[in-house]
Amino acid sequence: MNVLVLGSGGREHALAWKINESKLLTKLFVAPGNAGTASFATNLNVNVNDFDTIKKVVLENNISLVVVGPEDPLVNGICDFFLADNELKNVGIIGPQKDGAELEGSKEFSKKFMIKHNIPTAQYQSFTNDTLNNGLTFLETLSPPYVLKADGLAAGKGVVILDDLTEAKNELTEMLSNKKFGEASAKVVIEEFLSGIELSVFVLTDGNSYKILPAAKDYKRIGEGDTGLNTGGMGAISPVPFADENFLSKVEEQVVKPTIEGLKKENINYKGFIFIGLMNNNGNPFVIEYNVRMGDPETEVVIPRIESDLLDLFHGIATQTLHEKGIKINPQTATTVMLVSGGYPEAYEKGKAITGLENIEGSTIFHAGTTIKDNQVVTNGGRVIAVTSFGNSLEEALEKSFKNAEKIQFEKKYYRKDIGQDLLTHKN
Ligand code: AMP
Ligand code: GLY
Repeated sequence: MNVLVLGSGGREHALAWKINESKLLTKLFVAPGNAGTASFATNLNVNVNDFDTIKKVVLENNISLVVVGPEDPLVNGICDFFLADNELKNVGIIGPQKDGAELEGSKEFSKKFMIKHNIPTAQYQSFTNDTLNNGLTFLETLSPPYVLKADGLAAGKGVVILDDLTEAKNELTEMLSNKKFGEASAKVVIEEFLSGIELSVFVLTDGNSYKILPAAKDYKRIGEGDTGLNTGGMGAISPVPFADENFLSKVEEQVVKPTIEGLKKENINYKGFIFIGLMNNNGNPFVIEYNVRMGDPETEVVIPRIESDLLDLFHGIATQTLHEKGIKINPQTATTVMLVSGGYPEAYEKGKAITGLENIEGSTIFHAGTTIKDNQVVTNGGRVIAVTSFGNSLEEALEKSFKNAEKIQFEKKYYRKDIGQDLLTHKN
């Protein structure tokens, strides 16, 4: 079958790379893709939110399966668009419709969903500008730190955690009255602070049955020792040493099963990935957030660990036969280290020549923000390249990623040299 992957990051390179191994694949397209995907698939210069042009390329290229990488087109209703179109309705599409995408698109929706279906999560209340005063009073009843979340999508910046009550009150006022995050903060969720260590669990579902994919931990801050600004993610590891069998079985029973059942009860026909952000609080899982897509850079460690044919699993989702498929996971540890442009996550320059890619040994390179200019691979984003490696231990995998990270050069390259170091004391 001909397949189209939508997106242009490391996540999409990793998904396309895995699909490219499938014996079910005839021709692979990526839109818009990057220099990495161009090396084995056909990149199409189409914006992921331009549904009319996506329709045109799907029909022109006889594509029968579309894998949606980022959340934006999902929240904007790309699956609903396909289902409502006579020429597209039989094309398989991996990703939820608009109703399911609300799990990521609205914090309030996801909180209500979790409470209704008894899924462990922090207690919360939500407020609008009309109820600002109630919100300010509610903050007074809580003990710090205060967790404030813009309801809508805010490019990963909509969560603010503050220790000081006055600052929290000012922030709430900024979000609600001054629309700090635009429409995304027209409503704000205030929730109880959860302590513990974070990790993510990923699920593939066809709406009836599910497969649990490997868990991963990412490193969100720009600076070593988890300091500085939040980024999209500076590295990831899988499996997660502190997520033992006992913890993961609690995740399945208390979170995954009620989530799938809850979606069914709400008549949400969910086909695609569910990314569950969790806090391990004294050995018990609490859901921090749902995303309706894979994580980036978590994909760069989770997908390589899947030994089964990913396209066959996707086909199982599209035809609701996922229960007939098995899934085999590589027990080794995978790590990824993200090379970023100097200045990221604030202003940075693009168009820097990338060299040394031919010297990589023992790692897989996933391009994140790259493009080809005058036959040269150049930087084209904040996050540039993810270096993924396998090892029999976390230490071994990290050593390969760091060694190869050094071999790749571009002006103002930066990466965190402490990815995974906090977990080396945990034994797998
Ligand atoms: P989110 O966008 O919901 O994933 O939140 C961003 C980050 O804020 C999470 O990855 C956590 O580190 C942190 N966070 C969110 N909610 C809470 C909470 N209730 N307690 C503690 N930390 C939280
Ligand atoms: N790495 C976090 C995310 O993809 O949301």
